[in-house]
Amino acid sequence: MPAYNLHDLRTLARRRLPRGVFEYIDRGVEDEVALRENREAFARVKLYPQVLRDVRGRSAASTLFGAPLAMPVAVAPTGSAGLVWYQGELELARAAAAADVPFTLATAAMTSMEALAEQVQGRLWFQLNMFVDRSISHAMVARAERLGFEALVLTADCSVTPNREYNERNGFGLPFRVSPRALADMALHPRWFGGVLLRYLLHGGLPRYENYPPELRTAVTRFSTAKGAGRCEDLSWDDVRELRRLWPRRLIIKGILRCADAVRAAELGADAVIVSNHGGRTVDSTEAPISALPRIADAVGGRLTLLMDSGVRRGSDVLKALALGAQAVLVGRPTLYGTALGGAAGASAALGLLRAEIEREMGLLGLRSIAQVGPDLLGEGAKGPVA
Ligand SMILES: Cc1cc2nc3c(=O)[nH]c(=O)nc-3n(C[C@H](O)[C@H](O)[C@H](O)COP(=O)(O)O)c2cc1C
Repeated sequence: MPAYNLHDLRTLARRRLPRGVFEYIDRGVEDEVALRENREAFARVKLYPQVLRDVRGRSAASTLFGAPLAMPVAVAPTGSAGLVWYQGELELARAAAAADVPFTLATAAMTSMEALAEQVQGRLWFQLNMFVDRSISHAMVARAERLGFEALVLTADCSVTPNREYNERNGFGLPFRVSPRALADMALHPRWFGGVLLRYLLHGGLPRYENYPPELRTAVTRFSTAKGAGRCEDLSWDDVRELRRLWPRRLIIKGILRCADAVRAAELGADAVIVSNHGGRTVDSTEAPISALPRIADAVGGRLTLLMDSGVRRGSDVLKALALGAQAVLVGRPTLYGTALGGAAGASAALGLLRAEIEREMGLLGLRSIAQVGPDLLGEGAKGPVA
């Protein structure tokens, strides 16, 4: 089956991956209301084409933090590409570099920042989970700085483990239980079993949390003994203040849904916030980020760069986010689906589909450049919340 869009990639990835792995990357939280709403809110935003305009030579090329990128898109941190393809994070990062968009490495990734920086030449961001023992996270920040990462992304919306019941049911909770059901699931997906799991086992064993300090680098199937690995319940604005002191480059706060929090981030010197509900994977009753975006754009009034993610699946979604005040979007699951199907080639296909859709939609809307995308795309005289 050929993939004509990101939805097709999802369908194909679903066939390729064991159910436990697929649901781990694909699903939301609890009743998945936020997951559905992320898509439905995009559908409620309507666009108004300007006709009879010369749209030859149009391009999705844009700029972010003063540097050019091929389209206003970045790859979100997921730390899961290595589950869907052997060394999937390196593959996905290579695809992002080839597509000329930033790639974000997650703290919980199976690839070390050192390996990534050595092997991939593109724009690299590092996503930080704060550890209860702050010195562990601060040491990661120092490594990211030394390795030349362009931006540090602090995840602010996931300090408590969310309720993802499907992982427990599938035997994909932590620690991983090798249940008969999980074994049968893997056996029924030989391409994943041979191409991913077996390759890891033949090349040194199960992937580990490679960015953790050596004594805490457990296999991803085990609970790390790390002191509060990634779940820091007392994460606060004081941490943002401290990171601003420690980190000299772009500081991005991820998981913002309130105007007051975006304004606070700007006041503390953050360069950007990501308006996000974690792809519908944390609080199931949140407003969709695309709906919250215009209000937040009004509140920050250009004091920092606005990014958004959660539910972007079409080129038109990217243009909607830009029209509502974002400078760029991030995608999480779509590039994982692509990676699951063909490593870097699959991830490139996902990014290529998105870029082609953006440029096609620009032409249909009467746009030649991303700089022309503004609120009037949402209707004559429109500027307020529409979603
Ligand atoms: C499998 C998976 C793992 C994720 N892991 C992280 C993570 O470690 N840190 C983080 O800040 N966000 C994480 N996210 C959230 C993404 O960065 C992003 O916010 C979300 O996927 C965007 O929504 P989308 O998947 O609809 O594009 C993860 C998302 C998925 C799907």
